Amino acid sequence: MARKGIVLAGGTGSRLYPLTRGVSKQMMPVYDKPLIYYSLSVLLLAGIREVLVISTPDHLPSFKNLLGDGTDLGVSFEYAAQAEPKGIADAFRVGAKFIDGKAVSLVLGDNIFYGEGLPRRLSAIPETGATIFTYAVQDPQRYGVVEVDEKRNTITIEEKPDNPKSNLAVTGLYFYDSDVVEIAAGLTPSARGEIEITDVNNAYLQRGDLTIESLSRGYAWFDTGTHDSLLDASNYIATIERRQGLKIACLEEIAWRQGWIDEAQVARLAQPMAQCGYGQYLLSLIGDRP
Ligand code: DAU
Repeated sequence: MARKGIVLAGGTGSRLYPLTRGVSKQMMPVYDKPLIYYSLSVLLLAGIREVLVISTPDHLPSFKNLLGDGTDLGVSFEYAAQAEPKGIADAFRVGAKFIDGKAVSLVLGDNIFYGEGLPRRLSAIPETGATIFTYAVQDPQRYGVVEVDEKRNTITIEEKPDNPKSNLAVTGLYFYDSDVVEIAAGLTPSARGEIEITDVNNAYLQRGDLTIESLSRGYAWFDTGTHDSLLDASNYIATIERRQGLKIACLEEIAWRQGWIDEAQVARLAQPMAQCGYGQYLLSLIGDRP
């Protein structure tokens, strides 16, 4: 049974104003591609070919323009509007029909993940229960935080605690079985008025069905919530790409390496971009250097 994927790319982006007054946050450039490419790449690398993009009614058309229906990449992209930013777990209400009783992975459209072996790890996640990822951070109070006992058993997960019980932040990449739809439907809004993803994770934890994997220091995880973190992410991606001559989160390359499109299709996709480095990179992949 093929797992489905959701990219949540709504919200107001108010912390990035004025950058995001006229443009969606997830359209912001991170070096050479829009921010949403990075989260989307994680789903494709996990082998997920059916993806729902959720954004605001205002911004949804620009995502459709950017990504189309996915046929070009041998995948399927669908779109749904979230009228109000009611919370991250609201993705499973908006996306209930799309999920259609399948396992589902949710990724936040402003998160960036990078590291050796990640696709292999993600592809191996079972379709039962829930799996989430933690990452050590200096400022855990900005995130969902895992509280562990002396034996490193998880006791609870707290959303943006004033006094974090660990430095382990929950990243914006979540894998659930189809029960998540029912769990999300039963949630009540938190004190800040949102349907919290942390409540979903605690529901799985309570029934003994939550696996917490750690992304060790060998991985990079960015959320791009501030001007500085957006710039940091751009500099990081630029540094690695220039050093290696290989691109991070190049959707066309991923689709080709997954065997979903052939070389002729890569050439077709490169053609309108042949004047820029991105298109030239695609052509170089298939041995058709300009
Ligand atoms: O980045 C990881 C963190 O993401 C987790 O550690 C937290 O547990 C989780 O609550 C979330 O915290 P944030 O404060 O980063 O969430 P934020 O409200 O900024 O939303 C994250 C992205 O999701 C943001 O780009 C906008 C989008 N979003 C958010 C909400 C609440 C939506 O599209 N719709 C929404 O209703």
